Amino acid sequence: GRVVFSGIQPTGVPHLGNYLGALRQWRKLQDEAAPEDTLLYSIVDLHAITIRQDPAQLKRWKKEMLATMLAIGLDPHRSIIFYQSSVPAHSELMWILSCSASMGYLSRMTQWKSKMSLPDDASPLDTSSKAALKLGLFSYPVLQGADILVHSATHVPVGHDQSQHLEFARELSNGFNHIYGPILSQPTTILSPAKRIMSLKEPTLKMSKSHADPKSRILLTDSRDEISKKIKTALTDSITGVSYDPETRPGVSNLVEIVYHLNDGAAPSCEAIAKDCQDLSIKAFKEMVADCIDAKLSGIRERYYEILNEEGGSGLRRVADMGGMNAAASAEATMEKVRDAVGL
Ligand code: TYM
Repeated sequence: GRVVFSGIQPTGVPHLGNYLGALRQWRKLQDEAAPEDTLLYSIVDLHAITIRQDPAQLKRWKKEMLATMLAIGLDPHRSIIFYQSSVPAHSELMWILSCSASMGYLSRMTQWKSKMSLPDDASPLDTSSKAALKLGLFSYPVLQGADILVHSATHVPVGHDQSQHLEFARELSNGFNHIYGPILSQPTTILSPAKRIMSLKEPTLKMSKSHADPKSRILLTDSRDEISKKIKTALTDSITGVSYDPETRPGVSNLVEIVYHLNDGAAPSCEAIAKDCQDLSIKAFKEMVADCIDAKLSGIRERYYEILNEEGGSGLRRVADMGGMNAAASAEATMEKVRDAVGL
């Protein structure tokens, strides 16, 4: 059977990009899974601390992320939902993989550069950087590779921004297998159709949790009112009417794409949606977009608050414990082979 693995950082309530690019796909894979398939979805708290976090807030965010995952319809009796740090094998395999991971390859990865707002040609050892690069942020992709490979995952559903990391995970697997024999899996990337939802304020950049302006993203918990306000102030252009052309009209086209993906194939294409709306004013179009987002998110939002308010969180703790146990068993099956092969 297939082994599906994916992860999300508990660094706040997920936004529409996380939902359309990843979480909704996770749910779909769960619903379409064959009985012999395994699905693992991890809240990657060890990745979150590559950037300094407030401990109390991190604990809260982890719980909220778990509640969100249940709210979108992940079923803890079908999918293994767990906190990364509750399965030490992730860190153990990371160490083993880091003993053969290439510094050169890692230094070419773009994420640590963007997290530190450095130019793409920056070097990890450049001491003139405004902030010293932390080892954990530099080796972040090795831990991500370990997440995937420790479960012998075959399929990894992610958004476009994770493609480079998955390429690296396959490289780690190849490197290990070249030395020790065919032990680790070769995971395939599953890119969601909505692979890159853009910022509402700077529509040439991806929608992101780290963008300074909270109006640049729609959160899954946003009220109807907040959704309307954010869409109303989304950056568009001065061209009359609605059309779909991501090159010349990135702002309007991003809104068209959001509607297209939220309606999940109900319209044949983004062009078709734009054509249906071509005579609307931007103001009327934005109202339609906000209605559409609210219609698709309101159920998730209600479930989310129900789950968080249930029995003081003991239900969530039970889900996390069960997921942690099942994930540990899954990881152990791979780790026995890895330790034996390496001579540990
Ligand atoms: P994270 O937490 O940044 O994002 C979670 C998922 O959301 C997708 N995503 C987007 N998709 C479309 N449009 C956007 N604007 C957008 N923003 C985010 C991401 O591609 C991702 O799928 N390093 C990972 C977490 C991770 C992981 C793993 C993923 C750790 N270990 C192993 C897969 C497998 C991350 O920071 O995702």
